[in-house]
Amino acid sequence: MAIILDKTKSLFTLQTDHSMYQMKKDRYGVLLHTYFGKRGSVFDYSYLVTYADRGFSGNPYDAGNERSYSLDALPQEYPAYGSGDYRTSALKVRYPDGSFSCELKFKDFEIQEGKYNLPGLPAIYLSDDGTDGRADTLIITLEDTRRLFYVHLYYGVMENLDLITRAVRIENHSEADIYLENVQSACIDFLHGSFDLHTFYGRHVKERTCQRTPVSHGIQSIGSTRGTSSHQYNPFLILSDRTTTEETGNCFGLSLLYSGDFLGAAEHDQYNQTRVLMGIHPDNFTWRIKPGDSFFAPEAALAWSGNGLGQLSRIYHRAYRDNLCRGIWKTKRRPVLLNSWEGVYFDFNGDKLVEMAQEASKLGVELFVMDDGWFGKRDLDVSGLGDWFVNEEKLGCTLASISERIHALGMKFGIWFEPEGINEDSELYRNHPDWAMQIPGKAPSRSRYQLLLDFSREDVREYILSQICQVLDSTEIEYLKWDLNRSLSDIYSAALPAERQGEAAHRYVLGVYDMLEKLHSRYPGMLIEGCSGGGGRFDAGMLYYTPQIWCSDDTDAIERLSIQYGTSFGYPISTMGSHVSKCPNEQTGRITPIHTRAAVAMSGTFGYELDPHEMTREEKETVKSQIEEFKSYYELIQYGDYYRLTNPATAESWHSWQFASSDGSEALLISVALKIHPNGPGCWCRLKGLKEDSTYLVNGEAYPGDVLMNTGLPLPAATAEYESIRLHITEK
Ligand code: GLA
Repeated sequence: MAIILDKTKSLFTLQTDHSMYQMKKDRYGVLLHTYFGKRGSVFDYSYLVTYADRGFSGNPYDAGNERSYSLDALPQEYPAYGSGDYRTSALKVRYPDGSFSCELKFKDFEIQEGKYNLPGLPAIYLSDDGTDGRADTLIITLEDTRRLFYVHLYYGVMENLDLITRAVRIENHSEADIYLENVQSACIDFLHGSFDLHTFYGRHVKERTCQRTPVSHGIQSIGSTRGTSSHQYNPFLILSDRTTTEETGNCFGLSLLYSGDFLGAAEHDQYNQTRVLMGIHPDNFTWRIKPGDSFFAPEAALAWSGNGLGQLSRIYHRAYRDNLCRGIWKTKRRPVLLNSWEGVYFDFNGDKLVEMAQEASKLGVELFVMDDGWFGKRDLDVSGLGDWFVNEEKLGCTLASISERIHALGMKFGIWFEPEGINEDSELYRNHPDWAMQIPGKAPSRSRYQLLLDFSREDVREYILSQICQVLDSTEIEYLKWDLNRSLSDIYSAALPAERQGEAAHRYVLGVYDMLEKLHSRYPGMLIEGCSGGGGRFDAGMLYYTPQIWCSDDTDAIERLSIQYGTSFGYPISTMGSHVSKCPNEQTGRITPIHTRAAVAMSGTFGYELDPHEMTREEKETVKSQIEEFKSYYELIQYGDYYRLTNPATAESWHSWQFASSDGSEALLISVALKIHPNGPGCWCRLKGLKEDSTYLVNGEAYPGDVLMNTGLPLPAATAEYESIRLHITEK
């Protein structure tokens, strides 16, 4: 049993294979957080909590005049606003009398076999065949001292995955409406320790750059109020010891399965304690709960590693690849694709697309994706969005004719949609201007010439879904790219009364999930790729519906090194949409060898995004062999263990990463020369994930596994910028 209950001590200990988490109901009914870290003895860790008279940190009424009992100094599992704990809180409720102060007390608990689910929200699951080991659910119920609502804290304990999930349900059991102003999904209090906070910041075409800063007094936060998880910050953070490296040391991951506004914060308090929280961003959020109703906060996934950041990433990689992504494409080899966007942008007709596909099929490409520009009046991004009917005039043929001709080549066919978007210059807007999100009496801000539809509204979603299904049902389509090309603004829903406008942003996200779920169940064979101007909605929430996400609109292989490196901290290789594009690169003008572009794209879902007609004969031959090579490495890359060997921001000459099969019998080392130093120092690379006492072949030479891992392999002196090496290492 992964949940150990000590009733006499009111102690709840959650254990995974390597980590442990503990809570305790204290003498006043407050749920203390007493431990998170390495799995160790099941012991009452509340002995670590010290009590002292804390000036200006008051005492709850129940504690009488016990001046050494102060919530402001205690490690708590779910701290509420106005309880006398002045740190960042996990819950803020507006009571019927307009006040906000809330105190929570332990009420009850329940243990269930298996992992809980959340209605309408993504959640990690275990497969039915038992291969992922066991999972248990603990639900602890707290009640506010005014007896209006319950806070049900959900814990999913997945032993073999080394993962603990949390979620929260707030249940109004009173006779009056209450309003949530803030409900964080997870909060962890650390009594002591000096930590670094790792976050992933960026912008459009430069997503998920790593930032590591010491946690210092005050509140450090990241988040999004853009309606999506955003290019700017990612809903994933790591808290580590100051000395933690890729390979060694303690670190904790906190990942939110949510695709909208979020907040991630770390607070170092007056007593040098550290609190981290993550959940829906409170800025754009209020939620009315009617008597008898509940609100579910999205799931957060917590992991601990004692072997550095690399191990922490591999915990998330496995769980997200195998226990978050769903559908047949989770295990089936995904097709190598050619996407039309950077090849022809809006400038195509049906024949041109089919010609591209013909050329691509000769190279071994398996899926042709028709990107933006096939619908409505859409020759540029200024019009047509929302009109999901095929522009046969532009294509010069029907969609079925394109699909049939592509299928006749033995290829699959895919198509681009931006379901949430609407141009004012569209039939849809002319017919339903009120469906676009905008505030009555205020001119909305546009972005990429477009507005967004009010996806919080079921009628709007139903219409768009029916339009999309009409297209999908009209011919054979095996892949759908779901894009979103702007941030939300002017958040307002015509379907909500004034006092509930604070629900619109979250309802929008629920609406996106609802429609994705419907697509997922109606088209179980279809591969859906998420996208938001590249990686603007690259989060664990989306992965529940779309097993891959276009990682960035920056297709430059060298830029992609740091984007994919940053992404790899929280997300598996199999989720990172990555393509070989033309040279010089469209975004940077950089010239890189096609060998290197393929090495980077292979460390993702792999495909091409160019017009194959523009390639030389020699390049085409290279592409043929790249596709064959990728297929031969597929299992190793997509399901193997991934190791970051260097950081592209600091790599001295070669930047390297590696894949190792889980049984250690095979590995692939990839290195890209980032800096050239004539007459430079030598460069060595220690391999990972091999078996110490096995012998391996590298370029025909035999090496003991321990030697390759402990002393490493010399890399050749790089002779040209951006050249690259792929080295296959096999057990003899
Ligand atoms: C976004 C996507 C691109 C492409 C364009 C089409 O920017 O990220 O891949 O689909 O939209 O407009």
